Amino acid sequence: MSSDRFQVSDLRYRISILGFWILSSSWSLGTAFFLFIATTFLVSPTFAAAPTPVTSIFEPLSTPAQAIYEISLLVLAICAVIFLVVGGLLAYTIIRFRRRPGDEGREPPQVYGSNQIELAWTVIPILIVIVLILATTRTIYDVQSAVPPADALNATVVGHQWWWEIRYPKLGIVTANELHVPVTESSKRKPTFLKLESADVVHSFWVPQLAGKTDVIPNRRNVMWIEPTQPGTYVGNCAEYCGLQHARMLLRVIVHPPGDFEKWVAAQQEPAVDNPQVRAGRDAFFSTSCINCHAVKETKANGKFGPDLTHLMSRQTLGAGVISNTAENLRAWVRDPQHIKPGALMPNMQLTDDELNQVVAYLLSLK
Ligand code: CUA
Repeated sequence: MSSDRFQVSDLRYRISILGFWILSSSWSLGTAFFLFIATTFLVSPTFAAAPTPVTSIFEPLSTPAQAIYEISLLVLAICAVIFLVVGGLLAYTIIRFRRRPGDEGREPPQVYGSNQIELAWTVIPILIVIVLILATTRTIYDVQSAVPPADALNATVVGHQWWWEIRYPKLGIVTANELHVPVTESSKRKPTFLKLESADVVHSFWVPQLAGKTDVIPNRRNVMWIEPTQPGTYVGNCAEYCGLQHARMLLRVIVHPPGDFEKWVAAQQEPAVDNPQVRAGRDAFFSTSCINCHAVKETKANGKFGPDLTHLMSRQTLGAGVISNTAENLRAWVRDPQHIKPGALMPNMQLTDDELNQVVAYLLSLK
């Protein structure tokens, strides 16, 4: 009777250990796999008009992102070794010491206390954790303590529900959702140092190929930097849940080849185009409440709640990356932003078709 009970509990015990290991391993592997698939395939199509929407930390193209990539390889390698050793020993033990004929009624040797074994399984994990702490701390220190060179570009990024305001205080430029920076060459470093601020709730600024994510917190100024080493368009998104349209608070960093960034700056510093052919639309725009929220440089429109429209048509997308910036999409957006991005602060202005056509014609002239 007592030997039956022993066998049943022994079997249950082994099954539960094996089950726990399978569950926990498949949970971690499954999560890693899901994150990989989600970041590689599922997220990508939502980046309107992005040429190469890479959102992987495993393809770094910027100095801080490269440092983070290297430390993550080390951490992943150490964890993989631990996983294989623990899983391997567990599988070996379960198979090697399984119940065999003749085991009935016999308990395996009972071991109570072994200084050597206990020392080993205490000291080895401590050493591993110390290695991880030291290596991670060094990377964090290297990234965070970087001193801006005298000619580094400075920009301020302000998180809003649900778009990014981007300011270049020294250059007198204000834009939205697209951070333009120069490329770093091996002969000439051109890092960009960012000040991160929030106009409302907590957001998080993350462009995976360029740097780690940094939270954007109200009443606080966080700093970070990027140093892209290849020209191109890099996509990112808000990485902290900030309300209904959090998932559509996309951003892109446009890295200009040498000499090209200066041209972009010069174009952005120009006042808004004043095209007499769209005078009707201009008047319609300035007589509605558009100007309470939007600014057009050197006009009476100086609202601060929405994106600056001075060079609206120089941008690739509308609604923080939700749709590409075409005449047709612009018209749909102005007619009813809530249809495209429910919950956004911009209301349906109830324009008549004529007014809509005029306002859109004026906006299209803001190149
Ligand atoms: Cu902003 Cu999430």
